[in-house]
This record gives sequence, structure tokens and C-alpha cells, in this order.
Amino acid sequence: MTRIENHPILGKLGSKKAVTFTFDNQAIRGFENEPIAAALLANGIRTLRNHEETAKPRGIYCNIGHCFECRVTVNGIQGKRACLTPIKEGMVVQSGKQLASPVRDWSANHV
Ligand code: FES
Repeated sequence: MTRIENHPILGKLGSKKAVTFTFDNQAIRGFENEPIAAALLANGIRTLRNHEETAKPRGIYCNIGHCFECRVTVNGIQGKRACLTPIKEGMVVQSGKQLASPVRDWSANHV
């Protein structure tokens, strides 16, 4: 995955402070205050959680905080949107996991 090195609005990438955080116990490098989702995407990680009912992989969809498809756990707090949450040095991020029991059994009402 490559990054834009010199953006006309965001500036030069080289002037940003590099930080390290973890995602599912894997060390990830990013730039301070960039969204978690952007840092993960730059490191080739597209799956941020699994769907609560189907367990299918989910990732960035709207990237503006509306869809909640990018929910992750940040420093123990569930439901943080990766597309809006800026990374900090040492942050611990966990992917959203499938719930132990389904939220709703859709097939029960659609025989
Ligand atoms: S991708 Fe839609 S809220 Fe984050």
C-alpha cells in the first residue's frame, strides 16, 4: 500500500510524527492524529470487524462517520469508529468481534 507523500491540503507526509499502535496485538506504524482506519489501510489491513450475525468481514464504507461499519475497540472502549478516531502513540486497538450469540435470528421469521 502506498501513501500520498505530498497532499495539496494536508501537506507533506514527512512532516508528520510517526507513532506505533497495536491492532489485534500486531504493531502498526502510522502518523499521529491520522484516523485509525487510514493507518490500517496504509498497512494493508482492510477488515476492521466481523458482522455480528453473519461473521462476514467489514471495513471502511462511508469513511465519514455515518455507517458505523468500522467499529473497533480502542483502549478497551467498544464501538469506536476507526474512520474518525485519531491514533496516538501506544494506542491499543482490537477488531470488532462477532458476538457470542446472534443479535437477531432473521431466518426464524423467513421460512
Ligand atoms: S466507515 Fe462509516 S462510520 Fe466509519
